[in-house]
Amino acid sequence: MAKITLSIIKADIGSIGGHIKPSQKLLQSVENYIKEKGKGLLIDYYVGHTGDDIAILSTHKRGTLDSKVHKLCWDAFVAGTKVAKAQGLYGAGQDLLKEGFTGNVKGMGPAVAELDIEERPAESFLMFAADKTEPGAYNLSLYLTFADPMHNAGLLLSPEIKKGFKFVIMDVAYTKADRFIELYTPENIYDIAVLLREPGRFVVESIWSRASKEQTASVSTTRLHNIAGKYVGKDDPVALIRTQKDFPATGEVLSPYTIGPYVAGFMRGSHIGPLMPVKKNSAISFFDGPPVVSCLGFSVKDGKLTEPADAFDHPYWDYVRHSVSRKAEEIRRQGFYGAAMLSMSELEYTGVVASLKELEKKFVIKKSK
Ligand code: F6R
Ligand code: MG
Ligand code: MG
Repeated sequence: MAKITLSIIKADIGSIGGHIKPSQKLLQSVENYIKEKGKGLLIDYYVGHTGDDIAILSTHKRGTLDSKVHKLCWDAFVAGTKVAKAQGLYGAGQDLLKEGFTGNVKGMGPAVAELDIEERPAESFLMFAADKTEPGAYNLSLYLTFADPMHNAGLLLSPEIKKGFKFVIMDVAYTKADRFIELYTPENIYDIAVLLREPGRFVVESIWSRASKEQTASVSTTRLHNIAGKYVGKDDPVALIRTQKDFPATGEVLSPYTIGPYVAGFMRGSHIGPLMPVKKNSAISFFDGPPVVSCLGFSVKDGKLTEPADAFDHPYWDYVRHSVSRKAEEIRRQGFYGAAMLSMSELEYTGVVASLKELEKKFVIKKSK
């Protein structure tokens, strides 16, 4: 069995007409860079986009957080940023928050999800990429897939899956170091739910099979807001999930995406909108949204990838997209009001806070007689 690493590194380095999608030239420049400079380093790669973000999926033998693989992707984004600037694309280099590369891209802006695996004879995995949303956007679907038989029939039907899973959950509000907790299904499911209901603060980082001890899921946990100290775009997380046998079936991983849960993001990273499952290389549109998620299935042998199978390109998901559009329409009807916009601490632009500061001066306290 081959030991390999799957890495996704993803960044917004510029897009056409505001935040619609990267140009073909930009995508091509990133792909060409990986193709040329990745020789001898990577076994295989795939480059695609979800909304305004470009994701580089690669396979290699160098383990997670490898400085050479991370530098290759960072440099590909730096090279792409030059093309984005030359074309006048919007937000060129937006997610490259630090100058100079030091070790790995964690904490530098791009979203990262990686898995070290012992390749199974038939290794299948899913690559998720979300745009216009927050790091915890996968929390609900992961909970439902790994802990709820209403979505995962394997929890009842497969003795391996019934043994449960270990959830590693990160507190992304803690910026001094990685702060995380390990909880087990089925015995801790209510505590897991207590944390995951707060997707802006607690984010699933990884999930492990209790039967085989192997890792099934890896999710990016970046908070750009905390890295940059100011608004720089939403976090737009990526995830890798191995499926089948000791892990949930692909369809059990996809099942919760039928819900289109309301998540943070959308226009100016400051609203609530439903998470829409979209096809490969989809753009961003309505109200700089809605929040979207794409899912590509791959099989891999000795690190060589098949072409992607687009999991949300099916008539069933057209129906879901319609119902999610209806949810988007409903919440947009109330505009800036109440639950449609994020709370003060989560707002990504400073305008409201500045206005309130000014208004504070005009408040008076009524004297009682
Ligand atoms: C959200 C996002 C966009 C921008 C919006 C305004 O993640 O990127 O919704 O916030 O288009 O952009 P600026 O302030 O750059 O004009
Ligand atoms: Mg953008
Ligand atoms: Mg984005």
